[in-house]
Amino acid sequence: MTDPRLSSLLQDCPGLRLTTEPADLEHYGRDWTRRWTPAPLAIALPGSVEEVQAILRWASAHQVAVVPSGGRTGLSGGAVAAHGELVLSLERMNKPLAFDAVDRTLTVQAGMALEAVHNAALEHGLIYPVDFAARGSCSIGGNIATNAGGIRVIRYGNTREWIAGLKVVTADGQLLELNKGLIKNSSGYDFRQLLIASEGTLGVIVEATLRLTDPPPASNVMLLAVPSFDVLMQVFAAFRERLQLQAFEFFTDRALEHVLANGAQAPFEQVHPFYVVTEFAAGDQAQEDAAMAAFEACMEQGWVSDGVISASDAQAAQLWRLREGITEAVARYKPYKNDVSVRISAMPAFMAQTQALIGQAYPQFDVVWFGHIGDGNLHINVLKPDATADAEFLDQCEQVTKLLAQVLARFDGSISAEHGIGLVKKAYLDSTRSAAEIALMKAVKHAFDPQGLLNPGKLFDL
Ligand code: FAD
Ligand code: LAC
Ligand code: ZN
Repeated sequence: MTDPRLSSLLQDCPGLRLTTEPADLEHYGRDWTRRWTPAPLAIALPGSVEEVQAILRWASAHQVAVVPSGGRTGLSGGAVAAHGELVLSLERMNKPLAFDAVDRTLTVQAGMALEAVHNAALEHGLIYPVDFAARGSCSIGGNIATNAGGIRVIRYGNTREWIAGLKVVTADGQLLELNKGLIKNSSGYDFRQLLIASEGTLGVIVEATLRLTDPPPASNVMLLAVPSFDVLMQVFAAFRERLQLQAFEFFTDRALEHVLANGAQAPFEQVHPFYVVTEFAAGDQAQEDAAMAAFEACMEQGWVSDGVISASDAQAAQLWRLREGITEAVARYKPYKNDVSVRISAMPAFMAQTQALIGQAYPQFDVVWFGHIGDGNLHINVLKPDATADAEFLDQCEQVTKLLAQVLARFDGSISAEHGIGLVKKAYLDSTRSAAEIALMKAVKHAFDPQGLLNPGKLFDL
Protein backbone atom coordinates (compact mmCIF):
# COMPACT_ATOMS: atom_id res chain seq x y z
CA MET A 1 0.00 0.00 0.00
CA THR A 2 2.32 2.73 -1.17
CA ASP A 3 -0.36 5.39 -1.68
CA PRO A 4 -0.36 7.46 1.55
CA ARG A 5 -4.11 8.02 1.24
CA LEU A 6 -4.68 4.35 1.93
CA SER A 7 -2.80 4.52 5.25
CA SER A 8 -5.11 7.34 6.27
CA LEU A 9 -8.13 5.22 5.23
CA LEU A 10 -6.90 2.40 7.45
CA GLN A 11 -6.43 4.88 10.29
CA ASP A 12 -10.03 6.07 9.92
CA CYS A 13 -11.37 2.54 9.46
CA PRO A 14 -9.11 0.20 11.44
CA GLY A 15 -9.37 -3.44 10.46
CA LEU A 16 -10.89 -2.67 7.04
CA ARG A 17 -10.09 -5.31 4.45
CA LEU A 18 -8.28 -3.45 1.69
CA THR A 19 -6.34 -4.79 -1.27
CA THR A 20 -4.11 -3.35 -3.98
CA GLU A 21 -2.99 -6.71 -5.39
CA PRO A 22 -2.77 -6.30 -9.20
CA ALA A 23 -5.03 -9.34 -9.75
CA ASP A 24 -7.65 -7.82 -7.41
CA LEU A 25 -7.47 -4.41 -9.10
CA GLU A 26 -8.08 -6.15 -12.41
CA HIS A 27 -10.85 -8.37 -11.06
CA TYR A 28 -12.82 -5.73 -9.17
CA GLY A 29 -12.13 -2.89 -11.61
CA ARG A 30 -14.34 -4.16 -14.39
CA ASP A 31 -17.73 -5.65 -15.15
CA TRP A 32 -19.03 -7.85 -17.97
CA THR A 33 -18.46 -5.12 -20.58
CA ARG A 34 -14.67 -5.72 -20.62
CA ARG A 35 -14.33 -2.50 -22.63
CA TRP A 36 -12.30 -0.40 -20.19
CA THR A 37 -8.91 -1.15 -18.67
CA PRO A 38 -9.35 -1.44 -14.91
CA ALA A 39 -7.26 1.06 -12.91
CA PRO A 40 -8.72 1.46 -9.40
CA LEU A 41 -6.81 2.99 -6.50
CA ALA A 42 -7.65 0.04 -4.25
CA ILE A 43 -10.45 -2.35 -3.36
CA ALA A 44 -12.23 -1.95 -0.02
CA LEU A 45 -14.20 -4.97 1.22
CA PRO A 46 -16.14 -3.73 4.25
CA GLY A 47 -17.88 -6.21 6.52
CA SER A 48 -20.39 -3.90 8.19
CA VAL A 49 -22.55 -0.82 7.70
CA GLU A 50 -20.27 1.08 10.09
CA GLU A 51 -17.27 0.30 7.89
CA VAL A 52 -19.13 1.52 4.79
CA GLN A 53 -19.92 4.74 6.65
CA ALA A 54 -16.30 5.17 7.70
CA ILE A 55 -15.09 4.61 4.12
CA LEU A 56 -17.47 7.22 2.72
CA ARG A 57 -16.66 9.75 5.44
CA TRP A 58 -12.99 9.29 4.60
CA ALA A 59 -13.61 9.50 0.83
CA SER A 60 -15.58 12.68 1.33
CA ALA A 61 -12.86 14.25 3.50
CA HIS A 62 -10.13 13.34 1.00
CA GLN A 63 -12.13 13.83 -2.23
CA VAL A 64 -11.62 10.25 -3.37
CA ALA A 65 -14.06 8.89 -5.95
CA VAL A 66 -15.86 5.66 -4.96
CA VAL A 67 -17.34 2.97 -7.21
CA PRO A 68 -19.99 0.85 -5.44
CA SER A 69 -19.59 -2.71 -6.63
CA GLY A 70 -21.79 -5.82 -6.49
CA GLY A 71 -21.32 -8.94 -8.59
CA ARG A 72 -19.98 -6.94 -11.59
CA THR A 73 -22.25 -8.80 -13.98
CA GLY A 74 -23.45 -5.39 -15.19
CA LEU A 75 -23.62 -4.88 -18.96
CA SER A 76 -23.36 -1.09 -19.04
CA GLY A 77 -19.99 -0.37 -17.41
CA GLY A 78 -21.63 0.92 -14.23
CA ALA A 79 -19.21 -0.81 -11.87
CA VAL A 80 -16.07 -0.07 -13.92
CA ALA A 81 -13.22 1.68 -12.06
CA ALA A 82 -10.77 2.93 -14.67
CA HIS A 83 -9.63 6.27 -13.15
CA GLY A 84 -8.07 5.66 -9.77
CA GLU A 85 -11.36 5.26 -7.86
CA LEU A 86 -11.74 3.30 -4.66
CA VAL A 87 -13.89 0.26 -5.38
CA LEU A 88 -16.30 -0.38 -2.51
CA SER A 89 -17.29 -4.00 -2.88
CA LEU A 90 -20.31 -5.28 -0.96
CA GLU A 91 -19.15 -8.85 -1.55
CA ARG A 92 -18.56 -9.67 2.13
CA MET A 93 -21.92 -8.24 3.21
CA ASN A 94 -23.88 -11.17 1.86
CA LYS A 95 -26.09 -12.51 4.63
CA PRO A 96 -29.84 -12.71 5.20
CA LEU A 97 -30.70 -10.63 8.28
CA ALA A 98 -34.38 -11.11 9.10
CA PHE A 99 -37.59 -12.70 7.86
CA ASP A 100 -41.01 -11.43 8.87
CA ALA A 101 -43.85 -13.88 8.23
CA VAL A 102 -46.60 -11.31 8.82
CA ASP A 103 -45.09 -8.65 6.56
CA ARG A 104 -43.80 -11.33 4.21
CA THR A 105 -40.49 -9.58 3.90
CA LEU A 106 -36.89 -10.70 3.89
CA THR A 107 -34.19 -8.26 4.95
CA VAL A 108 -30.76 -8.94 3.48
CA GLN A 109 -27.34 -7.39 3.18
CA ALA A 110 -26.80 -5.82 -0.24
CA GLY A 111 -24.01 -8.12 -1.34
CA MET A 112 -26.16 -11.25 -1.21
CA ALA A 113 -26.34 -13.05 -4.56
CA LEU A 114 -29.76 -13.09 -6.21
CA GLU A 115 -29.82 -16.90 -6.15
CA ALA A 116 -29.05 -16.94 -2.43
CA VAL A 117 -32.00 -14.56 -1.95
CA HIS A 118 -34.21 -17.00 -3.92
CA ASN A 119 -33.07 -19.85 -1.70
CA ALA A 120 -33.55 -17.88 1.51
CA ALA A 121 -37.13 -16.98 0.46
CA LEU A 122 -37.90 -20.61 -0.40
CA GLU A 123 -36.83 -21.68 3.08
CA HIS A 124 -39.91 -19.77 4.27
CA GLY A 125 -42.18 -21.24 1.58
CA LEU A 126 -42.21 -17.99 -0.42
CA ILE A 127 -40.46 -16.61 -3.48
CA TYR A 128 -38.56 -13.48 -4.45
CA PRO A 129 -39.71 -13.41 -8.07
CA VAL A 130 -37.13 -11.30 -9.94
CA ASP A 131 -34.97 -13.75 -11.87
CA PHE A 132 -32.45 -13.96 -14.72
CA ALA A 133 -29.40 -15.87 -15.89
CA ALA A 134 -26.80 -13.97 -13.81
CA ARG A 135 -28.59 -15.07 -10.61
CA GLY A 136 -25.60 -16.99 -9.28
CA SER A 137 -23.21 -14.03 -9.38
CA CYS A 138 -25.16 -10.75 -9.44
CA SER A 139 -25.96 -9.12 -6.10
CA ILE A 140 -29.27 -7.84 -4.83
CA GLY A 141 -27.64 -4.42 -4.30
CA GLY A 142 -26.62 -4.35 -7.97
CA ASN A 143 -30.12 -5.48 -8.99
CA ILE A 144 -31.61 -2.60 -7.03
CA ALA A 145 -29.06 -0.09 -8.32
CA THR A 146 -30.00 -1.03 -11.92
CA ASN A 147 -33.69 -1.84 -11.35
CA ALA A 148 -32.99 -5.22 -12.94
CA GLY A 149 -35.74 -6.83 -15.02
CA GLY A 150 -35.23 -10.37 -16.26
CA ILE A 151 -37.40 -13.20 -17.48
CA ARG A 152 -40.53 -12.87 -15.32
CA VAL A 153 -41.24 -9.14 -15.55
CA ILE A 154 -44.36 -9.92 -17.56
CA ARG A 155 -45.83 -11.56 -14.45
CA TYR A 156 -44.10 -9.85 -11.53
CA GLY A 157 -42.66 -6.54 -12.72
CA ASN A 158 -39.14 -5.19 -12.26
CA THR A 159 -37.01 -5.10 -9.10
CA ARG A 160 -38.63 -1.77 -8.21
CA GLU A 161 -41.90 -3.52 -7.35
CA TRP A 162 -40.29 -5.70 -4.68
CA ILE A 163 -38.38 -3.27 -2.53
CA ALA A 164 -40.11 -2.47 0.75
CA GLY A 165 -37.20 -0.67 2.37
CA LEU A 166 -33.56 0.26 1.89
CA LYS A 167 -30.67 1.24 4.09
CA VAL A 168 -28.35 3.54 2.22
CA VAL A 169 -25.08 5.23 3.14
CA THR A 170 -24.77 8.69 1.59
CA ALA A 171 -21.65 10.26 0.10
CA ASP A 172 -20.83 11.93 3.44
CA GLY A 173 -21.32 8.73 5.44
CA GLN A 174 -24.83 9.24 6.84
CA LEU A 175 -27.14 6.24 7.13
CA LEU A 176 -30.62 6.67 5.61
CA GLU A 177 -33.40 4.20 6.41
CA LEU A 178 -35.84 4.50 3.55
CA ASN A 179 -39.49 3.45 3.81
CA LYS A 180 -38.79 0.89 6.55
CA GLY A 181 -40.96 -1.87 5.06
CA LEU A 182 -44.16 0.18 4.93
CA ILE A 183 -46.84 -0.60 2.37
CA LYS A 184 -48.45 2.81 2.72
CA ASN A 185 -46.34 5.90 3.14
CA SER A 186 -47.39 9.24 1.66
CA SER A 187 -44.96 11.38 3.60
CA GLY A 188 -43.24 13.20 0.77
CA TYR A 189 -40.50 12.26 -1.69
CA ASP A 190 -39.84 8.52 -1.85
CA PHE A 191 -36.04 8.30 -1.72
CA ARG A 192 -36.25 4.51 -1.75
CA GLN A 193 -37.62 4.66 -5.30
CA LEU A 194 -35.09 7.34 -6.22
CA LEU A 195 -32.23 5.07 -5.18
CA ILE A 196 -33.60 2.24 -7.34
CA ALA A 197 -31.87 2.52 -10.76
CA SER A 198 -29.52 5.25 -9.48
CA GLU A 199 -26.54 3.09 -10.53
CA GLY A 200 -24.39 3.84 -7.51
CA THR A 201 -24.45 7.60 -8.13
CA LEU A 202 -26.56 8.68 -5.13
CA GLY A 203 -25.61 6.37 -2.28
CA VAL A 204 -24.38 2.91 -1.34
CA ILE A 205 -27.18 0.43 -0.68
CA VAL A 206 -26.15 -1.64 2.34
CA GLU A 207 -29.38 -3.47 3.22
CA ALA A 208 -32.69 -4.15 1.53
CA THR A 209 -36.05 -5.32 2.79
CA LEU A 210 -37.60 -7.39 0.00
CA ARG A 211 -41.23 -8.28 -0.47
CA LEU A 212 -41.88 -11.97 -1.00
CA THR A 213 -44.89 -13.71 -2.51
CA ASP A 214 -46.49 -17.14 -2.88
CA PRO A 215 -44.79 -19.62 -5.20
CA PRO A 216 -46.48 -19.77 -8.61
CA PRO A 217 -48.87 -22.60 -9.47
CA ALA A 218 -47.45 -25.52 -11.42
CA SER A 219 -46.22 -24.29 -14.79
CA ASN A 220 -45.23 -25.54 -18.20
CA VAL A 221 -42.62 -24.27 -20.60
CA MET A 222 -43.26 -24.27 -24.34
CA LEU A 223 -40.78 -23.61 -27.11
CA LEU A 224 -42.32 -22.33 -30.33
CA ALA A 225 -40.75 -22.09 -33.77
CA VAL A 226 -41.87 -18.89 -35.48
CA PRO A 227 -41.45 -18.33 -39.21
CA SER A 228 -41.25 -14.53 -39.31
CA PHE A 229 -40.45 -11.54 -37.18
CA ASP A 230 -43.73 -9.83 -38.10
CA VAL A 231 -45.94 -12.40 -36.38
CA LEU A 232 -44.11 -12.57 -33.03
CA MET A 233 -46.47 -10.12 -31.39
CA GLN A 234 -49.49 -11.95 -32.80
CA VAL A 235 -48.24 -15.14 -31.18
CA PHE A 236 -47.83 -13.16 -27.97
CA ALA A 237 -51.41 -11.88 -28.15
CA ALA A 238 -52.77 -15.38 -28.81
CA PHE A 239 -50.98 -16.79 -25.77
CA ARG A 240 -51.64 -13.88 -23.45
CA GLU A 241 -55.34 -13.96 -24.24
CA ARG A 242 -55.68 -17.59 -23.14
CA LEU A 243 -53.06 -18.13 -20.45
CA GLN A 244 -51.57 -16.63 -17.33
CA LEU A 245 -48.09 -15.99 -18.70
CA GLN A 246 -45.03 -16.01 -16.49
CA ALA A 247 -42.56 -15.44 -19.29
CA PHE A 248 -42.62 -14.72 -23.01
CA GLU A 249 -39.14 -14.50 -24.48
CA PHE A 250 -37.79 -14.68 -28.01
CA PHE A 251 -34.53 -15.34 -29.82
CA THR A 252 -33.32 -15.79 -33.35
CA ASP A 253 -31.75 -18.73 -35.10
CA ARG A 254 -28.35 -16.96 -34.89
CA ALA A 255 -28.75 -16.86 -31.10
CA LEU A 256 -29.68 -20.54 -31.01
CA GLU A 257 -26.64 -21.48 -33.09
CA HIS A 258 -24.34 -19.89 -30.55
CA VAL A 259 -26.05 -21.60 -27.62
CA LEU A 260 -25.86 -24.96 -29.40
CA ALA A 261 -22.17 -24.39 -30.15
CA ASN A 262 -21.80 -23.85 -26.41
CA GLY A 263 -23.16 -27.31 -25.61
CA ALA A 264 -26.98 -27.07 -25.57
CA GLN A 265 -29.20 -29.62 -27.33
CA ALA A 266 -31.05 -28.75 -30.56
CA PRO A 267 -34.79 -28.57 -29.86
CA PHE A 268 -36.07 -29.32 -33.39
CA GLU A 269 -34.74 -31.26 -36.35
CA GLN A 270 -35.32 -28.31 -38.63
CA VAL A 271 -33.91 -24.82 -38.36
CA HIS A 272 -36.42 -21.98 -37.91
CA PRO A 273 -35.78 -18.25 -38.13
CA PHE A 274 -37.27 -17.33 -34.71
CA TYR A 275 -38.13 -19.00 -31.44
CA VAL A 276 -40.25 -18.15 -28.42
CA VAL A 277 -39.90 -19.60 -24.93
CA THR A 278 -43.04 -19.11 -22.93
CA GLU A 279 -43.88 -20.23 -19.39
CA PHE A 280 -47.44 -20.30 -18.10
CA ALA A 281 -49.56 -21.63 -15.27
CA ALA A 282 -50.64 -25.19 -16.09
CA GLY A 283 -51.89 -26.64 -12.85
CA ASP A 284 -55.16 -28.12 -14.20
CA GLN A 285 -56.78 -29.57 -17.31
CA ALA A 286 -58.46 -26.29 -18.28
CA GLN A 287 -55.10 -24.49 -18.35
CA GLU A 288 -53.48 -27.29 -20.33
CA ASP A 289 -56.35 -27.18 -22.83
CA ALA A 290 -55.95 -23.42 -23.09
CA ALA A 291 -52.25 -23.86 -23.88
CA MET A 292 -53.06 -26.34 -26.65
CA ALA A 293 -55.76 -24.01 -27.97
CA ALA A 294 -53.28 -21.12 -28.15
CA PHE A 295 -50.75 -23.32 -29.91
CA GLU A 296 -53.27 -24.68 -32.40
CA ALA A 297 -54.69 -21.23 -33.15
CA CYS A 298 -51.17 -20.03 -33.99
CA MET A 299 -50.47 -23.12 -36.12
CA GLU A 300 -53.69 -22.56 -38.06
CA GLN A 301 -52.77 -18.96 -38.76
CA GLY A 302 -49.28 -20.00 -39.86
CA TRP A 303 -47.73 -17.92 -37.04
CA VAL A 304 -46.05 -20.95 -35.51
CA SER A 305 -44.45 -23.81 -37.44
CA ASP A 306 -43.49 -26.20 -34.67
CA GLY A 307 -43.53 -26.50 -30.89
CA VAL A 308 -42.49 -28.56 -27.93
CA ILE A 309 -43.90 -28.53 -24.43
CA SER A 310 -41.93 -29.51 -21.33
CA ALA A 311 -42.87 -32.91 -19.88
CA SER A 312 -40.60 -32.61 -16.83
CA ASP A 313 -38.66 -30.04 -14.84
CA ALA A 314 -35.48 -31.26 -16.51
CA GLN A 315 -36.96 -30.62 -19.95
CA ALA A 316 -38.23 -27.20 -18.87
CA ALA A 317 -34.69 -26.36 -17.73
CA GLN A 318 -33.32 -27.55 -21.09
CA LEU A 319 -35.73 -25.30 -22.98
CA TRP A 320 -34.88 -22.37 -20.71
CA ARG A 321 -31.18 -22.95 -21.30
CA LEU A 322 -31.67 -22.17 -25.01
CA ARG A 323 -32.79 -18.65 -24.06
CA GLU A 324 -30.82 -18.05 -20.89
CA GLY A 325 -27.52 -19.28 -22.31
CA ILE A 326 -27.31 -16.61 -25.03
CA THR A 327 -25.34 -13.90 -23.20
CA GLU A 328 -22.72 -16.34 -22.05
CA ALA A 329 -22.53 -18.08 -25.44
CA VAL A 330 -21.78 -14.84 -27.33
CA ALA A 331 -19.49 -13.29 -24.70
CA ARG A 332 -16.30 -14.37 -26.44
CA TYR A 333 -17.21 -12.18 -29.47
CA LYS A 334 -17.08 -8.98 -27.36
CA PRO A 335 -20.63 -8.11 -28.41
CA TYR A 336 -21.85 -4.56 -28.74
CA LYS A 337 -25.15 -4.58 -26.87
CA ASN A 338 -28.33 -2.62 -27.39
CA ASP A 339 -30.99 -3.06 -24.71
CA VAL A 340 -34.01 -1.09 -25.84
CA SER A 341 -37.69 -0.92 -25.00
CA VAL A 342 -40.95 0.53 -26.27
CA ARG A 343 -44.54 0.10 -25.16
CA ILE A 344 -45.89 -3.32 -26.11
CA SER A 345 -48.47 -1.70 -28.39
CA ALA A 346 -45.65 -0.01 -30.32
CA MET A 347 -43.61 -3.20 -30.71
CA PRO A 348 -44.78 -4.31 -34.18
CA ALA A 349 -44.02 -0.96 -35.83
CA PHE A 350 -40.84 -0.44 -33.81
CA MET A 351 -39.54 -3.93 -34.62
CA ALA A 352 -40.17 -3.41 -38.34
CA GLN A 353 -38.23 -0.12 -38.39
CA THR A 354 -35.44 -1.50 -36.20
CA GLN A 355 -35.07 -4.62 -38.29
CA ALA A 356 -34.80 -2.50 -41.44
CA LEU A 357 -32.19 -0.25 -39.81
CA ILE A 358 -30.10 -3.06 -38.34
CA GLY A 359 -30.30 -5.15 -41.52
CA GLN A 360 -28.96 -2.22 -43.54
CA ALA A 361 -26.39 -1.09 -41.00
CA TYR A 362 -24.65 -4.35 -40.27
CA PRO A 363 -24.69 -6.49 -43.40
CA GLN A 364 -21.18 -7.73 -42.58
CA PHE A 365 -21.71 -8.54 -38.88
CA ASP A 366 -23.32 -11.41 -37.02
CA VAL A 367 -26.29 -9.84 -35.22
CA VAL A 368 -27.98 -11.81 -32.44
CA TRP A 369 -31.49 -10.75 -31.44
CA PHE A 370 -33.25 -11.92 -28.32
CA GLY A 371 -35.08 -10.53 -25.36
CA HIS A 372 -38.12 -10.03 -23.23
CA ILE A 373 -40.44 -9.37 -26.10
CA GLY A 374 -43.56 -9.67 -23.93
CA ASP A 375 -42.30 -6.59 -22.02
CA GLY A 376 -41.41 -4.62 -25.16
CA ASN A 377 -37.68 -5.19 -24.51
CA LEU A 378 -35.27 -6.21 -27.29
CA HIS A 379 -31.62 -7.15 -26.85
CA ILE A 380 -29.61 -6.67 -30.04
CA ASN A 381 -26.06 -8.00 -29.77
CA VAL A 382 -23.66 -7.26 -32.60
CA LEU A 383 -20.73 -9.67 -32.54
CA LYS A 384 -17.26 -8.41 -33.30
CA PRO A 385 -15.49 -10.31 -36.07
CA ASP A 386 -12.11 -11.47 -34.75
CA ALA A 387 -10.32 -9.66 -37.58
CA THR A 388 -11.90 -6.25 -36.86
CA ALA A 389 -10.07 -3.98 -34.42
CA ASP A 390 -11.97 -3.12 -31.22
CA ALA A 391 -11.97 0.64 -31.85
CA GLU A 392 -13.13 0.34 -35.45
CA PHE A 393 -15.93 -2.03 -34.46
CA LEU A 394 -17.05 0.19 -31.62
CA ASP A 395 -17.07 3.24 -33.85
CA GLN A 396 -19.28 1.53 -36.45
CA CYS A 397 -21.70 0.31 -33.77
CA GLU A 398 -21.92 3.74 -32.14
CA GLN A 399 -22.93 5.28 -35.50
CA VAL A 400 -25.78 2.78 -35.73
CA THR A 401 -26.84 3.37 -32.13
CA LYS A 402 -27.23 7.07 -32.96
CA LEU A 403 -29.76 6.08 -35.63
CA LEU A 404 -31.43 3.57 -33.35
CA ALA A 405 -31.75 6.26 -30.68
CA GLN A 406 -33.63 8.40 -33.21
CA VAL A 407 -36.03 5.55 -33.93
CA LEU A 408 -36.51 5.05 -30.19
CA ALA A 409 -37.20 8.74 -29.65
CA ARG A 410 -39.93 8.58 -32.31
CA PHE A 411 -41.57 5.73 -30.39
CA ASP A 412 -41.06 7.26 -26.92
CA GLY A 413 -38.88 4.25 -26.09
CA SER A 414 -35.87 3.76 -23.82
CA ILE A 415 -32.20 3.36 -24.74
CA SER A 416 -31.81 1.19 -21.63
CA ALA A 417 -34.66 -1.12 -20.74
CA GLU A 418 -32.98 -2.95 -17.87
CA HIS A 419 -29.16 -2.87 -17.91
CA GLY A 420 -28.72 0.77 -16.94
CA ILE A 421 -26.95 3.69 -18.62
CA GLY A 422 -23.53 3.37 -16.92
CA LEU A 423 -20.76 4.36 -19.31
CA VAL A 424 -22.09 2.49 -22.30
CA LYS A 425 -25.31 4.40 -22.95
CA LYS A 426 -24.35 7.78 -21.47
CA ALA A 427 -24.12 9.50 -24.86
CA TYR A 428 -27.70 8.50 -25.67
CA LEU A 429 -29.45 9.42 -22.42
CA ASP A 430 -31.02 12.42 -24.14
CA SER A 431 -32.83 10.15 -26.59
CA THR A 432 -34.94 8.92 -23.68
CA ARG A 433 -34.95 11.69 -21.08
CA SER A 434 -35.72 15.35 -21.84
CA ALA A 435 -33.26 18.17 -21.20
CA ALA A 436 -35.44 19.32 -18.30
CA GLU A 437 -35.36 15.83 -16.77
CA ILE A 438 -31.59 15.52 -17.14
CA ALA A 439 -31.11 18.94 -15.52
CA LEU A 440 -33.26 17.80 -12.58
CA MET A 441 -31.35 14.53 -12.33
CA LYS A 442 -28.12 16.51 -12.07
CA ALA A 443 -29.65 18.72 -9.37
CA VAL A 444 -30.66 15.59 -7.43
CA LYS A 445 -27.15 14.20 -7.84
CA HIS A 446 -25.74 17.47 -6.50
CA ALA A 447 -28.06 17.36 -3.48
CA PHE A 448 -26.99 13.81 -2.59
CA ASP A 449 -23.34 14.06 -3.60
CA PRO A 450 -22.20 17.70 -3.82
CA GLN A 451 -18.56 16.76 -4.44
CA GLY A 452 -19.47 14.32 -7.24
CA LEU A 453 -17.56 11.42 -5.66
CA LEU A 454 -20.05 8.57 -6.02
CA ASN A 455 -19.50 6.67 -9.26
CA PRO A 456 -18.43 9.77 -11.23
CA GLY A 457 -18.91 9.70 -14.99
CA LYS A 458 -21.67 7.08 -14.84
CA LEU A 459 -25.18 7.89 -16.09
CA PHE A 460 -24.09 11.43 -17.10
CA ASP A 461 -21.16 13.80 -16.83
CA LEU A 462 -21.69 16.67 -14.43
P1 FAD B 1 -22.68 -4.54 -10.72
O1 FAD B 1 -22.39 -4.94 -12.09
O2 FAD B 1 -21.64 -4.87 -9.67
O3 FAD B 1 -23.11 -3.05 -10.60
C1 FAD B 1 -24.12 -2.53 -11.42
C2 FAD B 1 -24.38 -1.08 -11.02
O4 FAD B 1 -24.91 -1.03 -9.71
C3 FAD B 1 -23.12 -0.21 -10.97
O5 FAD B 1 -23.45 1.08 -11.37
C4 FAD B 1 -22.73 -0.23 -9.51
O6 FAD B 1 -21.99 0.93 -9.13
C5 FAD B 1 -24.08 -0.27 -8.83
N1 FAD B 1 -24.10 -0.97 -7.54
C6 FAD B 1 -23.81 -2.28 -7.31
N2 FAD B 1 -24.01 -2.56 -6.01
C7 FAD B 1 -24.44 -1.42 -5.42
C8 FAD B 1 -24.80 -1.08 -4.08
N3 FAD B 1 -24.78 -1.97 -3.11
N4 FAD B 1 -25.17 0.20 -3.83
C9 FAD B 1 -25.21 1.12 -4.82
N5 FAD B 1 -24.88 0.85 -6.10
C10 FAD B 1 -24.50 -0.41 -6.38
N6 FAD B 1 -29.98 -7.67 -16.25
C11 FAD B 1 -31.32 -7.58 -16.29
O7 FAD B 1 -31.90 -6.58 -15.86
N7 FAD B 1 -32.08 -8.59 -16.82
C12 FAD B 1 -31.52 -9.72 -17.30
O8 FAD B 1 -32.21 -10.59 -17.80
C13 FAD B 1 -30.11 -9.86 -17.22
N8 FAD B 1 -29.51 -10.98 -17.64
C14 FAD B 1 -28.16 -11.09 -17.55
C15 FAD B 1 -27.56 -12.28 -17.95
C16 FAD B 1 -26.18 -12.42 -17.87
C17 FAD B 1 -25.55 -13.73 -18.27
C18 FAD B 1 -25.38 -11.34 -17.41
C19 FAD B 1 -23.89 -11.46 -17.32
C20 FAD B 1 -25.97 -10.15 -17.02
C21 FAD B 1 -27.36 -10.01 -17.08
N9 FAD B 1 -27.99 -8.84 -16.66
C22 FAD B 1 -29.36 -8.76 -16.70
C23 FAD B 1 -27.21 -7.69 -16.23
C24 FAD B 1 -26.77 -7.69 -14.74
O9 FAD B 1 -26.73 -8.99 -14.22
C25 FAD B 1 -27.72 -6.84 -13.91
O10 FAD B 1 -27.57 -5.49 -14.30
C26 FAD B 1 -27.50 -6.93 -12.40
O11 FAD B 1 -28.55 -6.25 -11.76
C27 FAD B 1 -26.18 -6.34 -11.94
O12 FAD B 1 -25.94 -6.76 -10.61
P2 FAD B 1 -24.44 -6.79 -10.06
O13 FAD B 1 -24.47 -7.10 -8.62
O14 FAD B 1 -23.60 -7.66 -10.90
O15 FAD B 1 -24.05 -5.26 -10.24
C1 LAC C 1 -30.82 -11.30 -20.92
C2 LAC C 1 -29.85 -10.26 -20.44
C3 LAC C 1 -28.77 -9.99 -21.38
O1 LAC C 1 -31.99 -11.01 -21.04
O2 LAC C 1 -30.50 -9.09 -20.07
O3 LAC C 1 -30.40 -12.44 -21.16
ZN1 ZN D 1 -32.52 -9.12 -20.53
